[in-house]
Amino acid sequence: MPATIVVGTQWGDEGKGKFTDLVAKEMDMVVRYQGGHNAGHTLVVDDERFALQLVPSGILYDHITPVIGNGVVVDPAVLIAEMDMLEGKGVDCGRLRVSGNAHLIFPYHQELDRVTERHLGKNRLGTTKRGIGPAYADKATRVGIRVQDLLDAKIFREKLGVVLHEKNPLLAKVYNRLPLDPDAIAARYLDECLPRLRPHIADTVNLLHEALEAGRHVLFEGAQATFLDLDHGTYPFVTSSNPVAGGACTGAGIGPRDINRVIGITKAYLTRVGSGPFVTELDDEVGDMLVDRGLEFGTNTGRRRRTGWFDAVMARHAVRLNSLSEIALTKLDVLDTLETLKVCVAYEVDGVRHEHMPYHQSDLHNAVPVYRELPGWRSDLSGATELHHLPRNAKSYIAFLESEIGVPIRLVGVGPGRDQFVHMAA
Ligand code: GDP
Ligand code: IMO
Ligand code: MG
Repeated sequence: MPATIVVGTQWGDEGKGKFTDLVAKEMDMVVRYQGGHNAGHTLVVDDERFALQLVPSGILYDHITPVIGNGVVVDPAVLIAEMDMLEGKGVDCGRLRVSGNAHLIFPYHQELDRVTERHLGKNRLGTTKRGIGPAYADKATRVGIRVQDLLDAKIFREKLGVVLHEKNPLLAKVYNRLPLDPDAIAARYLDECLPRLRPHIADTVNLLHEALEAGRHVLFEGAQATFLDLDHGTYPFVTSSNPVAGGACTGAGIGPRDINRVIGITKAYLTRVGSGPFVTELDDEVGDMLVDRGLEFGTNTGRRRRTGWFDAVMARHAVRLNSLSEIALTKLDVLDTLETLKVCVAYEVDGVRHEHMPYHQSDLHNAVPVYRELPGWRSDLSGATELHHLPRNAKSYIAFLESEIGVPIRLVGVGPGRDQFVHMAA
């Protein structure tokens, strides 16, 4: 029962899309297990760029069944637009399966996401305003409406009526917004979206287990990342799901014993979009250079990403939280022009050295990074395909990160293209 998880080890945008696509070649099924269209996963194939939000990154291979698991929150109009975009580029989406247990995102979720952010003022989280948090909140308070509810119009209308009975006064009286019309929403979801989605709605848990029992290779594609995890991330500056590897169990319906490989996707430096602590953040020309060379702007939101040096304290914590078996190190080529590189090997908080993540959030806000400096390689890595193409200092940087993190780095990304990577010796 070969099951692999791909998980982001930092604050997202590590290159999960590219590496999922890369590993997917050997897979039969690719399953998204959490998040929604807050994700933006970029794949570049033959100079064509695909920006995926909801559809699993395995979609580009004909032999793969892409699955949106029960742990995902689905905006049906966004999913349909994404399928249209893919089909317009000649990609067949007929194989896509969507769990009937996945929760739906509604216009009131998006409206609430926007107004609560505005309400928070300078304390805002910097969410993607896609309605993700409010949709998961409704799931937790058991007033969520699921994909399977679309299949019973009576139940769907009833549930929507109950929810709007609470949301409309909230929107109108607390946030001074216009109330939403249940009939207009029902017409959009039932008459416009359902006919397109119906053939894709499935019992994905049984589908997944039939595949595993038949010895098929299943890949679980994490969205967001370890430090955006609702439980383990830099709360409250997190997303509202569990991107960590364990999230694949609840978000797709498998037990931990079914998983035999967990690949951590790790950028060779660090980025973050939105608010929250960032110990190694760079506010200088090196930070700007990382944005420029790394094209560090949100895949879907276009927001400029904050940048910083590689943080080994976070990486070690990600190994623990996800039981990582290996790492794919991405975007090494972005560091090509630097004379000196820094790696944060520990934090100092009030004179105390921490090699592991301090548990109290205030410590993280007050932590001072302890850096080790390494020489840069100052040459273009983008054409490297073999280990011996990498200059000595690039190999030393990789080896140093590996020794700091404690798990092997198996693949190294040297450009956005599908073929721009180097296999490290096993
Ligand atoms: P994801 O959310 O983790 O899938 O990552 P995003 O797609 O949001 O952001 C990663 C960006 O880096 C995308 O534009 C990718 O095309 C690009 N990318 C991925 N791997 C590499 C790499 O090794 N080198 C470079 N230069 N770009 C990469
Ligand atoms: P991928 O899958 C980077 C961040 C937002 C915000 C916080 C909460 O492409 O790596 P949300 O809309 O989820 O309630 O926002 O999480 N965030 C991401 N940052 N990459 C992502 O996805 C993200 N998805 C959410 O910027 O700080
Ligand atoms: Mg992204």
